[in-house]
Amino acid sequence: MKIVIAYSGGLDTSVAIRYLKDKYNAEIIAYTSNIGQKLEAPDVLEERAKKAGAKKFYYEDLREKFVNEYIIPTLKAGAVYQDKYPLATSLSRPLIAESVIKIAKKEKADAVSHGCTGKGNDQVRFELTFKYLAPDLKVIAPLREWEFKSREQEIEYAKEKGIPINITKSKPYSIDENLWGISIECGVLEDPWIEPPEDAYQITTSPEKAPDKPEYMEIGFEKGVFVSLNNERLNQIEIIERLTKIGAKHGVGRIDMVEDRLVGIKSREIYEAPAAVILHNAHNELEKLVFSRELYEFKKLVSLKYSQIVYFGQWFSHLKECLDKFIEESQKYVTGKVRIKLYKGNCIVVGRSSPYSLYKEELATYSEKDIFDHKSSSGFIEIFGLVSKLEGERSKKR
Ligand code: ARG
Repeated sequence: MKIVIAYSGGLDTSVAIRYLKDKYNAEIIAYTSNIGQKLEAPDVLEERAKKAGAKKFYYEDLREKFVNEYIIPTLKAGAVYQDKYPLATSLSRPLIAESVIKIAKKEKADAVSHGCTGKGNDQVRFELTFKYLAPDLKVIAPLREWEFKSREQEIEYAKEKGIPINITKSKPYSIDENLWGISIECGVLEDPWIEPPEDAYQITTSPEKAPDKPEYMEIGFEKGVFVSLNNERLNQIEIIERLTKIGAKHGVGRIDMVEDRLVGIKSREIYEAPAAVILHNAHNELEKLVFSRELYEFKKLVSLKYSQIVYFGQWFSHLKECLDKFIEESQKYVTGKVRIKLYKGNCIVVGRSSPYSLYKEELATYSEKDIFDHKSSSGFIEIFGLVSKLEGERSKKR
């Protein structure tokens, strides 16, 4: 039996390699990708995977694919789960699962595997992707099967079996990281009443300690894609990295929320996603300028649905394909610039412009430049207010 496992290099997946190898008498192929997380050198990971029991190790830099095929479409969609979470972890799962399937097909493997627990969202995201891309492939989720009750028991097992593990001090949080943001849970964060201690945040400065001087910047968009920063054309990875750094410095992008997991559990999680927060804010503002009221409001419904699709792991689905077509068309005029001010945890839009703007100063103005025909409003109100009048008359009868 041959099994391909998505391998992070951490304790769970290292132990999983040995567990799978022993339990299924299998040949294990470990797969690790770079999606913008803090990552050890590939040869270090390879050595660890092999010492744990893997026969083969694959490594891939997926950052560009992540940005182009996952992050950009989600930003265009305006998809943010439950009004707050920009979906960094959620987005990475189908991407990794997709790559695991590619390796599994290449290696003619019998099964694929992941290191997700049995009560989270990530198992669903991995496995829905596996099902869609390889409906007949067996899926094994060791963390749902094995008997370990705690991290300590896993460490004990690792020691016993000579599996090298990379444990620094015992980590008080569970952290997942990629280009689009960081997800942090567990420990004291499990009490939703307690303010997250400073050490829970990995990259952002607290607003209190952020610079006293605001920082301004300009983000350029073309058809909904961010293409420049302060008038310098850059690739999207570079823009995300720079925004992460600048935003973090100003305490921007901290999110503290209670969210509804797909399995029904409410969980408290904090996120740090400076680039995502800034880009969603800027992108939305540009849409406001170029969209009709009808399109703007309708697209909000699409954003809501899209965020659920991503969160629930239905990235590969016909509905998402359909929504992507709508979203792509909607971005036709989303070209222009947005001016942002970062200040002590706030990301404030202070300017916007577009060659396709529907904003007309001569119409909006209260100065003598005004070209709006005020008189025509009375006819408009007459007709728009017809129902109000009828209802008013009726209400007198009661
Ligand atoms: N709640 C987030 C999601 O379902 C993140 C899950 C992983 N979080 C973590 N700290 N390991 O997308």
